[in-house]
Amino acid sequence: MAHTITLIPGDGIGPEVTEAVLRIFTAAGLQIEWDRHDAGVIAFKRYGQTLPATLLDSVKRNKVALKGPVTTPIGEGFTSVNVGLRKALDLYANLRPVKNIPGVETRFQNVDLVIVRENTEDLYAGLEHEIVPGIVESLKIITEKASTRIARFAFEHARTFGRKRVTAIHKANIMKLSDGLFLDSCRRVSREFLDIPYDERIVDAACMHLVMHPEKLDVLLLPNLYGDIVSDLCAGLVGGLGVVPGANMGLESAVFEAVHGSAPDIADQNLANPTALLLSGLLMLDHIGERQRAERIRAALGRVLAEGRVRTRDLGGTATTTEFTDAVGREIEKT
Ligand code: NAI
Repeated sequence: MAHTITLIPGDGIGPEVTEAVLRIFTAAGLQIEWDRHDAGVIAFKRYGQTLPATLLDSVKRNKVALKGPVTTPIGEGFTSVNVGLRKALDLYANLRPVKNIPGVETRFQNVDLVIVRENTEDLYAGLEHEIVPGIVESLKIITEKASTRIARFAFEHARTFGRKRVTAIHKANIMKLSDGLFLDSCRRVSREFLDIPYDERIVDAACMHLVMHPEKLDVLLLPNLYGDIVSDLCAGLVGGLGVVPGANMGLESAVFEAVHGSAPDIADQNLANPTALLLSGLLMLDHIGERQRAERIRAALGRVLAEGRVRTRDLGGTATTTEFTDAVGREIEKT
């Protein structure tokens, strides 16, 4: 079946890793019509906007987008394209599966976590103001509506993908009202999913547990700010931001993206590792019903990384982006 998907190559290493993913998808026989759109500084220079309406219309129409990293210039009044996309498309759930990859050595084995982070509210919304000089106030807004829908997302994900447990992470012992409401909402939703075990952990204790026994946790359900911090901690358990995928999902549309940035220090040098964007692309294939092809590519990627002969520089190798992409393509063709 042919699919039409919005493609946002981004900037910096974005176009290089995007091209790599497209070549690997083609090697696996995927028929995808890509609707390409610029974002960020490139779009601003061309159209006077970092997030053009044509891009948003395209994602709304196609329901699915694959996005490379986009630079956010500091101190030039640009708002982050990622934040803009999340707001404009109400992408309320941030999904980050974190799993050991064969051949990528880390301190931990058997890590297989899924982080489900609320994406729209909490302290992370950045609602701050100065009351008087020397005193500022940041607003932590938590709503029953947003907490309930993220909890439902986590349980539905757990059910669809056969996960073992959902753990809500909170600080309701101190934030009795805000995290209390989050927790109440999770508990209420958990009663709709009696087939999926549910438990709760306080965020500090959860962090300790994650760096001692990460293999014992499964789906983590978090409000926005704890989710931001814990998801990078978890990425570190399996080798860092270069090897974990991510997605921002809403009721209507979903944007799949690598969690790393545009890496301007290695842009246009054929040095970037496309693994993270490829893994995000594979999540996207799962989402659009192409699970079989996704598995074929996952297995090929796993074999190339496990064998370790062709690795990009960030993973201790000497291969270029092109050489790594070719190696994955050859592995796919063998199966
Ligand atoms: P970064 O992730 O771009 O780079 C950090 C380090 O990791 C650099 O040494 C870079 O070379 C390396 N690196 C990152 N991705 C790599 C890859 N695929 N292969 C090999 N090495 C890789 O983070 P940084 O420098 O903080 O941000 C650069 C720009 O990216 C900023 O403008 C930031 O706003 C933007 N950014 C965009 C994101 C997005 O669009 N999703 C996410 C994070 C940052």
